[in-house]
Amino acid sequence: MAEKTLDDLFLDTLKDIYYAEKQILKALPKMARAAQSEQGKAAFLQHRDETEGQIERLQQVFELIGKPARGKTCEAIQGILAEGEEIIEDYKGSVALDAGLISSAQAVEHYEIARYGTLKAWAEQLGHTDAIALIDANLQEEIATDEKLSALGEGSAKAKGKLRATK
Ligand SMILES: [Fe+2]
Ligand SMILES: [Fe+2]
Repeated sequence: MAEKTLDDLFLDTLKDIYYAEKQILKALPKMARAAQSEQGKAAFLQHRDETEGQIERLQQVFELIGKPARGKTCEAIQGILAEGEEIIEDYKGSVALDAGLISSAQAVEHYEIARYGTLKAWAEQLGHTDAIALIDANLQEEIATDEKLSALGEGSAKAKGKLRATK
């Protein structure tokens, strides 16, 4: 068996995030349906559209390195998304539902930021110059989404001041 290289790791990680993005694309409409606030719904739907574009950029990266676009099961994202579904179930109708949704969405964003940060650094090291801009475009969208979610989380906590049940 040939020794593994950074090229192999780059490709495996690309497959990991490609799989993850496709799972995220399916999860975001569910999160939008579950969200109670209009801003929350809008944020999830906007990021759903961005995710479509991100998947296309990843397909371009596969093309640039001459490999077929294929996903590889990513248990980390499955776990993060499963936790999100659990929150939707457990907090349905509660004042804390949106806070829970925002927190699981941020866990997703942080996973993506970690992956894209790494992929960008490796693309630089491997000389995949054309791929860097594509990966960075995805990275910047994830960072912006994370910041938006932070603002949304703080905003909803302040505006409502009712994250505790009023009984
Ligand atoms: Fe993404
Ligand atoms: Fe994202």
